[in-house]
Amino acid sequence: MSTKKRIYAKEIYHFHMNDPQISKDRNPEVISLEGIRIKQMKDEAQQDPNQFWSNCARNLVWFKEWQQVLDWKYPFAKWFCEGKLNAAYNCLDKHLTTNKKNQAAIIWEGEDGETVTITYDQLFRRVNQLANAFKKMGIKKGDRITIYLPMIPELPISMLACARIGAIHSVIFSGFSSQSIIDRVNDAKSKIIITADGGYRRGKIVPLKRIVDDAIKHTSSIEKIIVVKRTHENIIMGEKDIWYENAVNRESSFCPSEWMESNDPLFILYTSGTTGKPKGVVHGTGGYLTHLYNSAKWVFNFNATDVFFCTADIGWVTGHSYIVYAPLMHGVTEVLYEGAPDFPNPDRYWKIVEKHGATILYTTPTALRSYMRYGNEIPNSYDLSSLRLLGTVGEPINPEVWKWYFNVIGKNRCPIIDTWWQTETGGIMISMCPGIESIKMKPGSGTLSLPGIEIEIVDDKGIKIEDGKKGYLTIKKPWPGMLISLWNNNERYKKTYWERVDNSFFAGDFAYQDNDKYIWILGRADDILKVAGHRLGTIELESAFVSHPSIAEAAVTSKSDEIKGETIIAFLVLRKGIASSQNLDTEVNEHIKRTIGPIASAEKIYFVDKLPKTRSGKIMRRLLKSIVNKETIGDISTLEDEASIEEITQELNAINKQL
Ligand code: WT7
Repeated sequence: MSTKKRIYAKEIYHFHMNDPQISKDRNPEVISLEGIRIKQMKDEAQQDPNQFWSNCARNLVWFKEWQQVLDWKYPFAKWFCEGKLNAAYNCLDKHLTTNKKNQAAIIWEGEDGETVTITYDQLFRRVNQLANAFKKMGIKKGDRITIYLPMIPELPISMLACARIGAIHSVIFSGFSSQSIIDRVNDAKSKIIITADGGYRRGKIVPLKRIVDDAIKHTSSIEKIIVVKRTHENIIMGEKDIWYENAVNRESSFCPSEWMESNDPLFILYTSGTTGKPKGVVHGTGGYLTHLYNSAKWVFNFNATDVFFCTADIGWVTGHSYIVYAPLMHGVTEVLYEGAPDFPNPDRYWKIVEKHGATILYTTPTALRSYMRYGNEIPNSYDLSSLRLLGTVGEPINPEVWKWYFNVIGKNRCPIIDTWWQTETGGIMISMCPGIESIKMKPGSGTLSLPGIEIEIVDDKGIKIEDGKKGYLTIKKPWPGMLISLWNNNERYKKTYWERVDNSFFAGDFAYQDNDKYIWILGRADDILKVAGHRLGTIELESAFVSHPSIAEAAVTSKSDEIKGETIIAFLVLRKGIASSQNLDTEVNEHIKRTIGPIASAEKIYFVDKLPKTRSGKIMRRLLKSIVNKETIGDISTLEDEASIEEITQELNAINKQL
């Protein structure tokens, strides 16, 4: 593998001439990474973090420079205080006076193969028109807008239009169903929801507008529903509804950027936690964008000729950070694909790489595992020679899959970046950084943390654990991309992330470090599942099961799965007088799909008389997990001292008989 260093072109920023708001305070000085190797950068970050991060922040366009790099009042961080900037400006305007103006920003490919190319200039104008339409609807800085769209250009356009006027976007993955919309709209008190008549998924139509109509009956804040025409469904347009095209039609293609204070929220993204209620992770503007710009530079090493293909859905954080904000800030051309990896055939990503000449592919272990199952012939029949870098994210990658990715897809010449991060971290935290220098790769390890990011693996008491031992992954110092807080819930923010281990951020993952200090992620240490890389909370799933009229109690756990990593297994106690049946099994699963979404459907449902619980009533999910995965349970008394051992043993035996 080549260890040759890549040289960064010095970046020069230009400004959109029409924007009257540009202040002279901006500092266009840009750091160059030429010749700086990773070790040296890490030392610099350690010795003078403020200097290091402010050099990083200078890669953005600021309307007004910050007064203070970091204001850290544990556990609340403010980055680049009093600095003013705008996210949409950094993604669009700055390219308009460069040769990127007429370059493709987004190459969109529909599930049916239709392709639309949108240049930076066109994207700029479409974003501005929608921003003006929002203003006309009375949207002000700080208002929340919910976006429930499939992977079509209007999705990033809507996000950037929010950013332009300082509205906070809350994107809901279009695979989620009505309950997810209700919870998220009510928590954020969104005024507008943007959706589509329908979305395509594997050739079928998902009735998005109908799902929204059902959901908003249980919300009170929505004033307008903007509807994009995608599938041309026959839908009912009510009083609050307006077609997207009518909303933007006559709007001007210039809307001044709102000057956002660096710590003003850019978006809320709901993610599963260990309670039934999803957490509204809030990201700010200056810190978040600084982390994204620089992590993308170090990890992907974007250059002017790149065609970046990130296969994530924008409904998850990967799409927010590395489809919308980071690549557009870098002026990269990217592919936005609407559909499933195996539609109509299990070759779609390879076909897209060949068709658009993708140079970087950033995807998930689940997608790779499912492709690998079909053998090498399919990818071998495509020209994948445009690829220079391969990435993976979302779940641990099995070494055999890593090797397949490296040999068959990358033909032994593309480095693999296994990037560890979370919705909460905003951007990549652990990865090899080919943009700084390539280091030795080890299949299955994300290698080391990025410059400025200090990871420590600790034991139960928060004490640093020796190399080779499994412990909890923590982050020792604040970093610019970190979440600001949870929406309207500073207490939960503190409790979830900063009170498990003193003075450190608790990520909720198990990990260990080997002798080379390489970090190996071992999966979640809490009640969160990763099903095909999607994050789902067991308690959230259990509440959805219990909302079915026949179900009295539910316990959800997971079984390891060759393709999806984990699948959902549910143990359900029926209400008195209800009998179990195959019909009920199907009906309950349908109920889950309707409430949370198709991704939450259970692989297997067991109807049981009783659930194993501690005396204080806590469901012992770990025991259930062990038995479904056929692991030895060992001595129960040492696991849960509160439990009635005899009862539990009986219950487990009864469950075991059913498996
Ligand atoms: C959780 C965060 C990161 C963006 C998409 C997921 C798991 C993430 C890796 C990786 C092993 C990984 C962790 C983490 N995870 N990346 N490279 N190797 N595990 O974001 O939905 O917030 O999930 O995904 O368990 O905590 P998310």
